[in-house]
Amino acid sequence: MHISFTEILPPDARLVAYVANGATMPGGLEPMLGTAATTARFKGRIDQLFEGFAERDGKMVRIALVGAGEVNGDDRQAALERAGAALTARYLTSGETALALDLTGTGLDAAETASLLLGLRLRGWRHDAYRTRLKDEQKVTLESVSVVGAPGGAREAWAVEEAVAEGVEFTRDLVAEPANKIFPVSFVARCEEAFRGTGAELTILDEDAMHKLGMGALLGVGQGSEQPSRLLAIRWNGGGGEKPTVFVGKGVTFDTGGISLKPGPGMEDMKWDMGGAGAVAGAMLALVKRKAKANVIGVVGLVENMPDGKAQRPGDIVTSMSGQTIEVLNTDAEGRLVLCDALYWAQEQYDPARIVDFATLTGAMMIALGSEHGGLFANDDALAEQLLASGKAVGDKLWRFPLSAEYDKLIDSPIADMKNIGPRFAGSITAAQFLQRFVRKGTPWAHCDIAGMVWADKPGRTWDKGATGYGVRLIDRFVRDVAEG
Ligand code: BES
Ligand code: MN
Ligand code: ZN
Repeated sequence: MHISFTEILPPDARLVAYVANGATMPGGLEPMLGTAATTARFKGRIDQLFEGFAERDGKMVRIALVGAGEVNGDDRQAALERAGAALTARYLTSGETALALDLTGTGLDAAETASLLLGLRLRGWRHDAYRTRLKDEQKVTLESVSVVGAPGGAREAWAVEEAVAEGVEFTRDLVAEPANKIFPVSFVARCEEAFRGTGAELTILDEDAMHKLGMGALLGVGQGSEQPSRLLAIRWNGGGGEKPTVFVGKGVTFDTGGISLKPGPGMEDMKWDMGGAGAVAGAMLALVKRKAKANVIGVVGLVENMPDGKAQRPGDIVTSMSGQTIEVLNTDAEGRLVLCDALYWAQEQYDPARIVDFATLTGAMMIALGSEHGGLFANDDALAEQLLASGKAVGDKLWRFPLSAEYDKLIDSPIADMKNIGPRFAGSITAAQFLQRFVRKGTPWAHCDIAGMVWADKPGRTWDKGATGYGVRLIDRFVRDVAEG
């Protein structure tokens, strides 16, 4: 969906939308329509949408009036995103191809306008590539939005948010694709295509390179798959001489559980077990497209976890790049095996100022938090506070969990340095403790377990059912506040 700014309402506009702050009717609207909206109990509340018709220059014009809540209501940004999203949800498949958005006299500032447009744009993402028999009324028709009466600075503010939207959309595409389309090699290829000509530098490690580095933990997960594993680093040097911020993503392009095979029902969900890697790649795209003034690197460990004659077995002991040995008691606890080598390599390679990983790591996280918050674990309170604040600001919410020596002890193994699972309880915490064993002393580190966040079974703030793009906006905001600030 393309969004542009114009000086006057396009004379041929067939669909014109207005935003109402509470019960205050916008200026350009015919008084009769305002009365009609009030009669229909339209109060300008968030998500409320009134539809009517007006005769203008002898032509019939479709009018939409969307509520954005009260001007002084809390979380104005969320309210405006939802107002924009409500318009898109209503008109995306309506038969209309163009929407004119008249903001004259609405009183929005540039940042608020950008929020409205971000909601509008993000709600328009769909994954219809394989739906070849859609009925006409199911097909997307809305192609363009022209904004009239935007405040000064709105174009510039939108140019930044448009980059963020491109990142979110890239992540959603990667997450929505099935595992016969997105596997380690094709994930890398999609990134090469997306980042071509952007100035980002891509480093790709194949299995030989990873063998030489001693990444036995990551390689052990991929060894039962016909699809070769990859490690991909995306580097953006937009800052000065300071140490980089590094983000690491779990990219299990399909997780059958391996020999510790998962039950059949619902296994298809494990196509989105690369949601952490997807979020990191999409966030890097957003940062690169908006030319963030920061040094940032995204590292993703890409493997497919399959059962096979060559697959690793429960009880196998692997040696990670750090030299620490791991007893693999459950081949379904594979995400931590991928991340431990990716995290360790990233620290050795880039000496980061801070490192944050994103992973659909444990089902237990969904038991604890459902789909409202991702779980946050950190060895550094300041870093944790910054991530919580960034997430809250953009709606990619996090909730912090503890780490401690008592939990850490639970993954000690009698035969190796550690085992890859703990006892039944506190499964998300013992997974985080496992990762912490691969973090260098003195490096601020945080782990975000986003198992419940990357896929939605109901529409949300800026998405329909399906891939949410969770994490992209969180990372973008964190970089703005912490690395660019
Ligand atoms: N990818 C899964 C975690 C997951 C499960 C994410 C369901 C989203 C929805 C992860 O690899 C996994 O299988 N974890 C196991 C760990 C257990 C074997 C210690 C789990 O959560 O059951
Ligand atoms: Mn698993
Ligand atoms: Zn997994």
